[in-house]
Amino acid sequence: MKKIQVAIDGPASAGKSTVAKIVAKKLHFIYCDTGAMYRSVTFAALKNHVKLDDDQALKKLLKTIEIRFVPAEPEQRVFVNDEEVTQAIRTPEITNNVSLVSAQPSVRAELTKRQQEIAEAGGIVMDGRDIGTTVLPNAEVKIFLVASVHERAVRRFKENQTKGIDTPLDILEKEIEERDYKDSHREISPLTQAKDAVLVDTTSLTIDQVVDQILEIINQKTN
Ligand code: CDP
Ligand code: CDP
Repeated sequence: MKKIQVAIDGPASAGKSTVAKIVAKKLHFIYCDTGAMYRSVTFAALKNHVKLDDDQALKKLLKTIEIRFVPAEPEQRVFVNDEEVTQAIRTPEITNNVSLVSAQPSVRAELTKRQQEIAEAGGIVMDGRDIGTTVLPNAEVKIFLVASVHERAVRRFKENQTKGIDTPLDILEKEIEERDYKDSHREISPLTQAKDAVLVDTTSLTIDQVVDQILEIINQKTN
C-alpha cells in the first residue's frame, strides 16, 4: 500500500478514533489522535491553573509541554512530558472544557504544526475536526463521519458504563449538541466537511461495516 495520508473528521462520538485505529492497523500506517492533543493541552492548563481562554498564557504553556503517543494495546498511551495522561484526558471535566481551549488561535496554530510534522513521513491515518480542511488539505483520502445525536449519545453512554461513569442519556445528548455547536461555530478551523471528503453516516452501521466502507474508499482512491 502506498504511504498515503487518510484524514477522518466528524463530530463527537461518530466513531472516528475507533475506526481510524483499526484502519491504521490494517494498513500498517501510523495513527494520530489529534483530539487527544487538544485534550492534553486542556489537562495541562487545568493542572497549571492557566485560564482556558487566555490565548497568550496557553501559548506560553505549550512551549513547556511535549505531547507523546506511545504504541500499546488495547490503546496507545498518551504522555504530557513524563506524565501519563491516557485516562486523565478522557474525564467529563476535560471533555466539557476542551472546546474552549481548542478555539484559541495559538493553540490551533501550534498543534496544527505538530500534527503536520507527525504526518510528514506519510502512511498516516489522522482523525479530528479540521484534518481534511486545514491540517492535511492534500490528503489523498478524506472521510467525514457522522451519526445522529441520539446514536452518538447512546455510544458515549455505553462507553461511560464500562468506566463507571453514569451521566444520564439526556445530559449526554445536550453535552454532545453543545460541543458540536462550539466546534462548528468557532472562528478558526471550524468543524466542516471538506469539499473533497466522502460522507459516511455510521448511525446504523457496526464498527466493522464502517471500517470496510473506509477501506473500500481508500482502495478506490488509490487504484
Ligand atoms: O472523541 P471526541 O469526539 O469526544 O473528541 P476528540 O476527538 O477527543 O476531540 C476533543 C475536542 O478537541 C473536540 O471537541 C474539539 O474541540 C477539539 N478538536 C479540535 O478542535 N480539532 C481537532 N482536530 C481535534 C479535536
Ligand atoms: O472518536 P469519536 O469521538 O468520533 O468516537 P469513538 O470514541 O471512536 O466512538 C465512540 C463510541 O462509539 C465507542 O465506544 C465505539 O465503540 C462506539 N462505536 C459504535 O458503537 N459503532 C460505530 N459504528 C462506531 C463507534
